[in-house]
Amino acid sequence: MAFPPQFLEELRARLPVSEVVGRKVRLTRHGREFKGLCPFHNEKTPSFTVNDDKAFYHCFGCGQHGDVISFAMETEGLSFPEAIEKLAAQAGLQVPQSSPEERERAKVRSTLYDVVEQVCAWYGEQLRQPGGRAAYDYLRGRGFTDETIAQFRIGYAPDGRGRLLQAMEGQGVRRDQLVEAGLLKMPEGGGDARDYFFNRVIFPINDGRGRPIAFGGRILGDGQPKYLNSPETPLFQKGRSLYNFAMAREASRAAGTVIVAEGYTDVIALAQAGLSNAVAPLGTALTEDQIRLLWRVADEPVLSFDGDTAGERAALRAAERALPLLQPGKTLRFMALPAGEDPDTLIKSRGADGFRTVLSGARQLVDVLWQAEVSAARHDTPERRADLERRVNGRLAQIEDPGVKYHYQQTMRDRLRELFSVARRARQGGFGNQTGRGNRPDFAPGLRSRGDIGAMKQLQERILLATLVNHSDLLHDSHEALNEISLQNRELDSLLQVILNLAATTPALDTRELQRHLNQSGYERSLGTVLHSQVYRQASFAAPDGTIADARTALDEILARYQRENMVADRVAAKEELAGDNNESNSEKLLELVREESGAGGL
Ligand code: UTP
Ligand code: MN
Repeated sequence: MAFPPQFLEELRARLPVSEVVGRKVRLTRHGREFKGLCPFHNEKTPSFTVNDDKAFYHCFGCGQHGDVISFAMETEGLSFPEAIEKLAAQAGLQVPQSSPEERERAKVRSTLYDVVEQVCAWYGEQLRQPGGRAAYDYLRGRGFTDETIAQFRIGYAPDGRGRLLQAMEGQGVRRDQLVEAGLLKMPEGGGDARDYFFNRVIFPINDGRGRPIAFGGRILGDGQPKYLNSPETPLFQKGRSLYNFAMAREASRAAGTVIVAEGYTDVIALAQAGLSNAVAPLGTALTEDQIRLLWRVADEPVLSFDGDTAGERAALRAAERALPLLQPGKTLRFMALPAGEDPDTLIKSRGADGFRTVLSGARQLVDVLWQAEVSAARHDTPERRADLERRVNGRLAQIEDPGVKYHYQQTMRDRLRELFSVARRARQGGFGNQTGRGNRPDFAPGLRSRGDIGAMKQLQERILLATLVNHSDLLHDSHEALNEISLQNRELDSLLQVILNLAATTPALDTRELQRHLNQSGYERSLGTVLHSQVYRQASFAAPDGTIADARTALDEILARYQRENMVADRVAAKEELAGDNNESNSEKLLELVREESGAGGL
């Protein structure tokens, strides 16, 4: 709705900025201005000024600037009309309605808020009734405290027909209002109204101002559907709401970020553990509106996903959705939960600190895209490299903001160049050409795809990488042999290639420098899985405190094993070649390989 300019003028005139800001920020007067600690960034000395004459606030630290309306929008996550509505009420002004229909709609909405509030309170009471005992026990059984239940106003929709209507009619609420609020359904063929929610635990969903507008209802225990959410109503559009947004907005300011979980119970478990800055979408993937809402609260909201392949796909989809929306400074980050865990279970098993540890390993959007494309296919031929470049450029074309797009292009160009130059060096790097093995990588994919990548294999690869990072001297000693191996796990393989490239170009590369570089170039997460206690438990020589002598012996063994594996792969390939074309040269080649292999003790 458009507001008449005179009305907005009057609103600004009636509400001094210092009064509106003063509710959130402690201000002290300095001449004609006020000063305080900026609510938009963390600071110890005040650089935030408020000027009532000019009706604006300005922060010399972070550049935030605006009037009472933008202040309400920014600090409370309100939309423009919501901010106007709230400020008008404070100023004692009537919000002008442009047409009788709009006036009518506004009236319906405002009474509907009261209706939903009354229902919310009633559901809350039902949890304390004997009939709500099972629901209450269920919640306590899940570890939610009484304070948490009260804070989130969790309630219970009882079994039995017509209870809600009866109770609400007693409080002066009409049946049609309950229907409008999505709490009663009228059966198609006529007959009595049915409760939308019954025998479910009720999670109230609030708007940006903390007013209940809808509900999510969970079945007690197992059954389908597990959750039922309010239908869309004049108050509630699920793609524009986020569970716990009002509370998380406040907490996010102190925490510096906002976390996006998948479900209600995740958000609640996080808040109970002290992380109140979490929200959840309402049973759908994150929408563009929701992403914009999140950016009002934090520059880099962190989305949490299950660490399995489905979760990785979901993360990639969210990244894709965000690309056209990216703005300078505004992006998303992605945290991968241990496979099979959600934040609720993770908090239970590892506590808030365990969660924070995983959170601190969140990947940047640019890394999610990069890793998805790099691991989607091999890039060991010019055609495949051109394809990778084409796919990456296709992604970047989605970015609309020219500044962000430019820097994405720069970053991706650097990464592609590094990746390809590493691959080139690996191909040139002293490979035993006289044995005719130069084309080995072309046979490898066939072997690689056979069956799943074993967890054992992956652990071995992580052990190898940990050894190289923690004992970086070995990188130089065994550089040539290392150049000949490729790892089955693509992410780990690209990590190895980057490490080798660095070692080749940086003469005095030590562990710290290596780690710093890897963390900066998007390998933070991969590195995290490598420099891991699980790896060190399996192989103490790989740990930072393992001795270099042990590490060297172990590395030699590992490399010998890879060499044997390469030989086997070569032999298999040569055999296939011979089967396809039984000529003397092919037969000679196979024989040579078999001889070499037995000489190396590989048979
Ligand atoms: P999950 O299935 O991950 O549930 O759904 P959860 O949050 O971990 O719930 P608990 O721990 O089993 O109680 C995540 C979110 O997806 C929506 C809900 O918003 C839920 O919070 N959902 C899920 C539905 O809307 N309907 C369903 O049937 C299931
Ligand atoms: Mn759960």
